[in-house]
Amino acid sequence: MKNFFLAPSILSANFSCLGEDIKKVIKAGGDWIHFDVMDNHYVPNLTMGPMILKSLRDYNITVPIDVHLMTKPVDNLIPQFAEAGANFITFHPESTNHIDRTLNLIKDNGCKAGLVFNPATPLNFLDYVIEKLDLIVLMSVNPGFGNQQFLPSTLSKLRKVRKLIEATSLDILLEVDGGVKLENIAEIAFSGANVFVIGSGLFNYSNYDIIVQKIRQELKYAYLKSVH
Ligand code: DX5
Ligand code: ZN
Repeated sequence: MKNFFLAPSILSANFSCLGEDIKKVIKAGGDWIHFDVMDNHYVPNLTMGPMILKSLRDYNITVPIDVHLMTKPVDNLIPQFAEAGANFITFHPESTNHIDRTLNLIKDNGCKAGLVFNPATPLNFLDYVIEKLDLIVLMSVNPGFGNQQFLPSTLSKLRKVRKLIEATSLDILLEVDGGVKLENIAEIAFSGANVFVIGSGLFNYSNYDIIVQKIRQELKYAYLKSVH
């Protein structure tokens, strides 16, 4: 079966015992950790910095960590997150004056790079940099908060990006972020996503094993539908 990656967004985790909560979600089958960085400037909310990421690495959390920068500017934070143990660093094209330079900075710091598209951000930012990307992220909510409703316009945008990726021979992951739930994940996968950020749709359940198992079943269904 083709690879689908579940990236639990720790924005919805229990911050009073973050390390333990993350270990629980990984044990249940989370593949990556999605780490939302908000600065109360690019988005109206304030979350976590590189020190917290480093403390998770020191706590023996070894899965890939996907840092989603919702900050403006971004460049000064990139070496700090790389040093702290990030694997992927993604940013919004509106948040930097020099997209190409910021992508190079991520790569030069040894991380995989991604661009994040807000619901109303056009895809033409991909035109001259797609070959530098390891990951394309489509926001399916406006960024800033967990537990919002999935915007259905994301599905056609996903199909467009999937076609663009297939037209290149590049190995680019396609991630969707916001409002992903057990109820819509199959349709999202069927529209072309292969990395699923899931915050409240996972952490709001008391038993992570059961919800992850159910999500995997939905993904299997989407996969089978796509090969028939
Ligand atoms: C929103 C964040 C998301 C958020 C997703 O700005 O980028 O990663 O945590 O949370 P849910 O899955 O609850 O929509
Ligand atoms: Zn995010």
